[in-house]
Parts: sequence; structure tokens; C-alpha cells
Amino acid sequence: MSDTASSLERDLERLLDQERFPPPPEFVESAEVTELEQVDDHEAFWADKAGALDWAQPWEQVLDWSNPPFAKWFVGGKLNVAYNCVDRHVEAGLGDRVAFHWRGEEGEERDVTYADLHRDVQRFANVLKDHGIETGDIVGIFLPMIPEVVVAMLACARIGAPHNVVFGGFSPESVKERMEVSNAKALITVDGARRKGKTAAVKAAVDEVMEGMPSVKTVFVVRSTGAETPMTEGRDVWVDEAMEAAAADCPAEPFDAEHPLFILYSSGSTAAPKGILHTSGGYLTGVAYTHKLVFDLKPESDVYWCTADVGWITGHSYIVYGPLANGTTSVMYEGAPDYPDKNAWWDVGEKTGTTIFYTAPTAIRAAMKWGPEYAEKHDLSKLRLLGSVGEPINPKAWLWYHKVIGGERCPIVDTWWQTETGHIMISPLPGVTETKPGSATQPLPGIDARVLTDDGEDAGTAQGFLTLNRPWPGMLRTLFGDDERFVETYWKKYGKETYFVGDAARKDEDGYFWVIGRVDDVLNVSGHRMSTAEIESAIVSHEKVAEAAVIGQPDEDSGQSVTAFVTLGGSQADGDDDTVNEIREHVAKKIGKLARPKRIIWADDLPKTRSGKIMRRLLRDIAEGKELGDVTTLRDPDVMQQLETKVKERQSADEE
Ligand code: WT7
Repeated sequence: MSDTASSLERDLERLLDQERFPPPPEFVESAEVTELEQVDDHEAFWADKAGALDWAQPWEQVLDWSNPPFAKWFVGGKLNVAYNCVDRHVEAGLGDRVAFHWRGEEGEERDVTYADLHRDVQRFANVLKDHGIETGDIVGIFLPMIPEVVVAMLACARIGAPHNVVFGGFSPESVKERMEVSNAKALITVDGARRKGKTAAVKAAVDEVMEGMPSVKTVFVVRSTGAETPMTEGRDVWVDEAMEAAAADCPAEPFDAEHPLFILYSSGSTAAPKGILHTSGGYLTGVAYTHKLVFDLKPESDVYWCTADVGWITGHSYIVYGPLANGTTSVMYEGAPDYPDKNAWWDVGEKTGTTIFYTAPTAIRAAMKWGPEYAEKHDLSKLRLLGSVGEPINPKAWLWYHKVIGGERCPIVDTWWQTETGHIMISPLPGVTETKPGSATQPLPGIDARVLTDDGEDAGTAQGFLTLNRPWPGMLRTLFGDDERFVETYWKKYGKETYFVGDAARKDEDGYFWVIGRVDDVLNVSGHRMSTAEIESAIVSHEKVAEAAVIGQPDEDSGQSVTAFVTLGGSQADGDDDTVNEIREHVAKKIGKLARPKRIIWADDLPKTRSGKIMRRLLRDIAEGKELGDVTTLRDPDVMQQLETKVKERQSADEE
């Protein structure tokens, strides 16, 4: 170990003993909020926050909770989300303010101002209208991290056409499924996307699954890489050409506060993804308020960078809607943290003068593994606040982040929330909260979070189930087209007024929340949510496979990794390396690369109950080398022994 490395280790040890981190006095001195707001009247509180937006028509009722769990916020109010994110800033004279310092992975620089967005969003909205897209039509978006993705989302919002964004890392098959189930009328995609120096021909790949999405009548193609792109006459439209031909003005028509803003598919415990539906007024109120509060935002001086992809909720809420509603200057980075090399993020951070940096624990752990020298080579002294999201952050990564990236002067906000909640729910306030590494600390003002036992009692300081006990403005309104599944998934365990999160958590003596992880069959790989059932169904669709069971295993880099127990069909014995690769590629094609199993274990049979249900719990126990408890409920208890041998063989092979 080099001298600097061992001195860093010593510093981290010292910090580990500290346990509590009060907000740094220099930070508090200029913090926007230094005292926790007391909430006596919940509705008045949120009405006050909604007042930060520009309403074309005021609401008559703050909250209608007469038919739980179906909430309505700001009933009777009307607004236009795109107007709130763009036009009003331009009207206030801020047109020249940069909305996005976009940075490409080959070092390209493009600064997009609020005036640029104002011009482009209107034209793009007119392109949609010119091609028959109307208010209420669902528009799919499958784009990489380029400014056009923001323009596309806002263009949809401007005309009240809910968007359905699919993360660029998902496969065209996933796009097809999501367009099909949401009955999308159009799809906005791109000629090609770059990733670590390679270009993927996105539009050409999408063409291959077009047959499976008959509802999609128009494909809008953004020109980005100049990749060779097949275009179908009468269906496919080049966005740049259409924008030139379109009218410049598109009025921002006000929509009902409860008008759907977007659907975002997320994984649940069955194979079918859930279409999480968010609406306009409440969602925008929630993201704008929490973005300002949690990040201590000073829109005139901050340079804010959230490293998420727009295809996830973090991107929707904290790259697009929250920051833009607040008139923020953001960084938007196209690439990976290690391309062209491991300096990439810190180069961008230094050159843009980033002051607020929001990323995921998995990225911090990767940076930690690469070593502090990359960050240390850069001047990151403008940074004043750090954020974390997506999974529990282990104290070691927290401390490294605090020390190496934050120079021990930046508070860290560990923000807990979900696709469903729309915005941050549990988080420190950087100028107020004493933090403890690994804890998201306490619910934000206006949020009532509790940890309950299985029977619905307060769990005290014991581990229990995390719940949210009062409606909040950014909450999902339903699962698209499936009210029943919405009620079943979130509002059944504890009744119609208590939202069941699906996370295990513990509250300590100080009332601090420690989120432990999912309690359902949902995996969190590198902060990305996936369901075991979804991956299983992809594996089973491979011609050689008879049966599969997937579990998540703890993983040093990605938090969790995918392990699949696979039984091959016919008389085939264990698969060979080629079969492993085939199955992995098959999963990548069906869902996306991130769902590929890291480990495949061949199984002659799987542990099943007499009724045929696969007992994943037993598989987890085996994989973790735990003592196996009672297996007598199994149809064939011998299966376990065979599997144990297989797992051991596999583990010793891995170690070699
Ligand atoms: C699940 C939600 C929120 C945007 C990214 C993920 C886990 C999220 C934290 C955190 C511990 C966290 C939970 C949650 N999670 N943030 N700060 N500490 N766990 O959104 O895909 O909807 O996943 O991510 O398990 O339920 P998502």
C-alpha cells in the first residue's frame, strides 16, 4: 500500500469513529434553510409549496382523499408543466441562463439556455401536433443522454401528451413491451447512441420490433450520431427537418392539475412491469419543493449535477422537472464515469464548476475501487453539497465520498424515495440535520413515515416494514390501466390509508431511519430496479431452458447481483460455457444488459412446495451458505442436497 493510500485508510478509520456529522458551520452560514419547518396544517403546508409554481387557474381544494387510495391534489387548479419549467423563466428575463451544460463523452460541449429550450420545445411540440399527436395520447421516448431528450419530454408536457420514457440501456424488446401495454401512439427515438466510444444503431434495432407495436403510428427520429438509418415512408419522421418546417409558436395550454404527466414502467414482483402514473400539479409541486430544500439550491449561483439517466425516475424528477421548475443550471453528461478514462466525471465536475453533485452508491464504490488519485488530480473545491440515491449507502463508501470527493466540507444528503413516491421522502436537510453515515435520517417536512410490524404495530427500534401514512402531492396516482394491481400492491397490507413501501427499515433511538432493502422479489442492481420474475421469464424463453429461478446476492460493486438457477430441457445435463453466454445474451436482448445474470448455476431440479411454488428463500440460503432449516414442505427434499453440491462446486470454481 502506498503512503497516501494508507493515510487515507487511517483517515477513514478516524472518521468511522465519529459516527455523527453535524452540518459544517461554513455551510450553515449560507444555507437557505437552517431550521426544520413545523407542519401543523398539512394541507396548508403543501398549498404554500404549490404557490411556488405558476398556476393558470387556482385550485379549489388542496387534497381530495375521499376515495383512498386514489388521491387528487389541487383539485380544479390548472397549469402547464412546460410553461413552469421554461417559459416563466424566460419571461422573468432569465432566457440567457444556462439550463444544461451538456458534455459529450468525446469532450464535446453544448450549453443549452432557457431561451434555447423555449424555442426548441415549442417547435418540437408543433412537430408532435403536426403529426396527429393530441392531448392525452401517450408518446414513447427512447433516447440517450442528449439535450433532445429533455426537449422531447417538455414538448409532450406542453401539449398534455403523457410521455413514457424507456431507459436507453433497455433492449428494443423492452421498448416494444412498454409501448404495447401503454398503447403508445408514437415513439421518439434516435439514429444512434454512443457509449464508451462505440455507436449503437438504435433506430435500426427499433425497426426490428416495430411489428409488435401496432399502436405506434409515427416514429420521430432525432439525428444525433449520423448513423446509417433506415426510414419508412409515411411513418418515420426526422425531427430536425420537421422542426424546421414547424411553426415557431406553440401556446402553453393549461391542463388540469390531475392531468397525467407521464408513465414510467418499473419492476414489481411479477414479470409484468408496472406503469407508474404521475400527474401534473402535485408532482411538480413535490419535485420543485424537495429539489430546492434538499439541495439547498441557489439558482443564481449553483451548478447542479445529477448523474442519473433521464430514463429513470431520478432523471425525471431531479434532472428534468425539479431543476427546471426551479430555474437551475445543471450539468448533463452523456457518458460513463470511466470513459475515455477514470477521470471523466471529475474532469466534467472541475470544468463546469459543479457545486452540487448527486449520484448513486454504486458509482461511489466504483470510484473508491479505482482509487482516490483520479478525483484528487482535479480541483473540486467548488463542490459544496453531495447527494446519494438508489440504495442504502454503506458507511465506508459514505466516508470515502465525504473525504475524497467532498474534502470533508460538504454535507451528504442520503435521499430515500422511489419511482412511486415521485420525489424525495426521507433525507437530511443539509443545513439542519446531523447525519449518520448509512442513514437517510428523517422524513422531510409534510411526510409521515413509519416502521411497522407485520401486524401494523409501531416496530419501535426493531426492524419492520417502511410505510407512508399520509398522502403527499407527488405520489403515484395508480398503475396505468390497472387500479386493482395498484391497490393490491401498495394499499392492501395495512389498509387503504397506509402506503406499503416494500422496503424493510429500522428506526433508531434518535428516530433516524435505516433503510435495509426490498422485502419483495425485487432486486436492486447498481441502483436499478429489476424483478426476479421478469428475469426468470426472459431466461425461460430461451429454447434450451426448462425452468429458472433467480435470486439477488449481495455484491461488493453493484449492491446486489443476479444469480440464476437454471434447469435445461430434455435430457441435457449441465450447460457449458457457450450455453451460459447464450443465456446471458438472451436476457440482454429481452430486457437489457443490466439484467444479465452474473452467475448461472445448473440445477437438475428446483426446490418447490407441493403446490409447485419455487422457494427462492431456500435458494438464497444455499447461495449464502446458510444452515438449511426445515425442508420437509418441499415436494422433493433431496433436491436441496444436490443443489448444495452444485453451489459449492461453483463457488470453488469462482475462487480459482
Ligand atoms: C427503491 C426504489 C429513488 C430513485 C432511484 C431508485 C431503494 C432508493 C435509497 C436510499 C436506501 C434506497 C429502496 C427503494 N432506495 N433510495 N437512499 N437508501 N434505499 O428508484 O427504482 O423506484 O427503487 O430503491 O429499496 O424502495 P426505484
